[in-house]
Amino acid sequence: MFVARLAEPADFEGWRRQARVLAQWEIPAGDIVWHVGDEPLDLFDGQAVDDLAHDQHVRFTVPREFPDLAEQVVCHRDPERFGLLYRLLLRLRQEPDLLKVVTDPDVHRLNAMARTVRRDLHKMTAFVRFREVRDAVGGTMFVAWFEPEHFIVRRVSAFFVNRFSSMRWAILTPLASLHWDGTTLQVAEGAARPDAPHEDAMEEYWRTYYANIFNPARLKIKAMKAEMPEKYWRNLPEAALIAPLIAGASQRMSAMVKAEPTHPSVRHARWQSRQEAPAYGTASAPSDWHQAATAARSCARCDLCRDATQTVFGSGPLDAPVMFVGEQPGDQEDLAGKPFVGPAGQAFDKAMAQVGFDRRRAYVTNAVKHFKFTVRGKRRIHESPNAGEIKACRFWLGLEREFVRPRLIVAMGATALMSILGKATTISSVRDLTTTLEDGTPMIATVHPSYLLRLPDEAQREKETARFVADLNRAKAMLPALLDPIR
Ligand code: URA
Repeated sequence: MFVARLAEPADFEGWRRQARVLAQWEIPAGDIVWHVGDEPLDLFDGQAVDDLAHDQHVRFTVPREFPDLAEQVVCHRDPERFGLLYRLLLRLRQEPDLLKVVTDPDVHRLNAMARTVRRDLHKMTAFVRFREVRDAVGGTMFVAWFEPEHFIVRRVSAFFVNRFSSMRWAILTPLASLHWDGTTLQVAEGAARPDAPHEDAMEEYWRTYYANIFNPARLKIKAMKAEMPEKYWRNLPEAALIAPLIAGASQRMSAMVKAEPTHPSVRHARWQSRQEAPAYGTASAPSDWHQAATAARSCARCDLCRDATQTVFGSGPLDAPVMFVGEQPGDQEDLAGKPFVGPAGQAFDKAMAQVGFDRRRAYVTNAVKHFKFTVRGKRRIHESPNAGEIKACRFWLGLEREFVRPRLIVAMGATALMSILGKATTISSVRDLTTTLEDGTPMIATVHPSYLLRLPDEAQREKETARFVADLNRAKAMLPALLDPIR
């Protein structure tokens, strides 16, 4: 007997190296014990594969798809996976077209196992939900709990590293855990469920998102359960909504059928007729902010939706007296789905606090709703939106203005100004003025907070920051008269 030792449950390289040696010696599959880990085997002491002499230059020709399938199948939980792969390797040397015989029991099993693993990989990329936690030194990190069926954690790690490279996060699973500190990935032991945090502000965000995208008219419970199997529900914040949404679906649907069609306001219809591309197929125009925010989630008016994680719509009270407009979401906003939460947001918050302006009373949004970036190494580097992208996204800003109806708009930076005025204009040419927009709303313009962060010279940064704070002060001072014009 031979003992082939593998470093971990999905050790593809270990399997491949030893399978080549064993196949050179034409060792039958039944004479091999594949063993994960380095603890001694109690019952018998087989010969180690690494003790066999072999010629490293002997080449194996296998169909091109076999290594890919094998790499997937080693992740399967079935204890016979390594033996099956080895048996197939031996057979493929005699029957090069074997993989085409899908009715062959070994091939059938190989394909079924690979399919199951691919499905598990997909589920993990779709259903991991991070919760924000404070670490031991008071920093922010994100932790998720997930229960994969198969040994896929290492294999899927590259997806999360690429996707969330600028966050610190951990994904805990019973089989293995991933820890990313922003530069290095560590794969550690599995964890027990209580290690993962339960509730945080992100839960509410997921629930709102899910409730918004839930369409009772499209409800197909069987298909939904196939895509989002019930076993994942207990780790999904939005799952708490599934039962009540299903229960209310038929009532909501008959209400939708009976309801009068919604008509856009005259002002909006006029405005929309000026737009080039319809925003959303044949569906009716959004008649309130919530509908607009939901429709914006599937916006494809320009190409930026392709690479961004999600649409970042504006946020704040819908009766806010003032609307701040920035450029576009940055890396952190793209991940969080909220505007101005990253470094520029912090600079903005700090300046707002300095003038005693409560951000929670303001509506904050961007001219462009998708993050535009180029990838450099592991980082996503901000790129400014071009005129076409700004123009395509004016549609959404127009709806936000219509539904929020702020008394004052503050444009922060040239992109915001271009979107609001509909033409390229420098900040310096309008900075100290109050511009009255087409619909009568007053607008003032200032620099973008990230401009302040980019200034290398400290003295200049202080001077420009003071000017930015003064602009916010001016906005604050204008509000009482705008709120109560006959005072
Ligand atoms: N910059 C912006 O213009 N908006 C954001 O939301 C973040 C950074």
